[in-house]
Amino acid sequence: MKFFIDTANLDQIREAQALGVLDGVTTNPSLMAKEGITGADNILKHYVDICNIVDGDVSAEVIATDFAGMIKEGEALAALNPQIVVKLPMIADGVKACKYFSDKGIKTNVTLVFSAGQALLAAKAGATYVSPFIGRLDDISTDGLNLISEIRHIYDNYGFGTEILAASVRHTMHIIDCAKLGSDVMTGPLSAIKGLLKHPLTDSGLAQFLADYKKGN
Ligand code: G3P
Repeated sequence: MKFFIDTANLDQIREAQALGVLDGVTTNPSLMAKEGITGADNILKHYVDICNIVDGDVSAEVIATDFAGMIKEGEALAALNPQIVVKLPMIADGVKACKYFSDKGIKTNVTLVFSAGQALLAAKAGATYVSPFIGRLDDISTDGLNLISEIRHIYDNYGFGTEILAASVRHTMHIIDCAKLGSDVMTGPLSAIKGLLKHPLTDSGLAQFLADYKKGN
């Protein structure tokens, strides 16, 4: 399973990259705003900075909601770096734009996916990634993980190459459950990735090993 970090914070991206397990980055307009990155030029520059830190795919979201606007923005984003994946919203023009970019060999991530039907449309349009938001479904008392399972089943039935990118991942159990269900990718916060490290028996076992070593040296 690929690990992406879901942030526009460069320090956190550097920390995840240094851990040696990072396969890519996802961002969205809210995450950019959270870091105080505003204005088209600054946002484009920030994407370049992110690409310079990581080796893998970097999702960059369009703001336009009409086909022509998405194509214009998506082409500008894709021209920044071959690592850029054009992130498009799951609306009719987003699906059309996804087909347009996939026909041109430009990678796409269809975002704001909340149903299996939407994921099927994204795959039909040739999306590289589809982003079901599991945490936001959990927020409204709907099982986000069940959506991952449904999409996995449908994609496997037909051999769709679109990768399932579990998004809106909030904690370690989301990551583990997505891995069990065969999600191709998960994108989550640094806290969830680092949370996988923790076990009290690891800490107490290491402390004991070091204490025993010191006794004999
Ligand atoms: O990956 C999608 C993500 O950015 C949304 O996460 O926690 O705002 O639902 P969240």
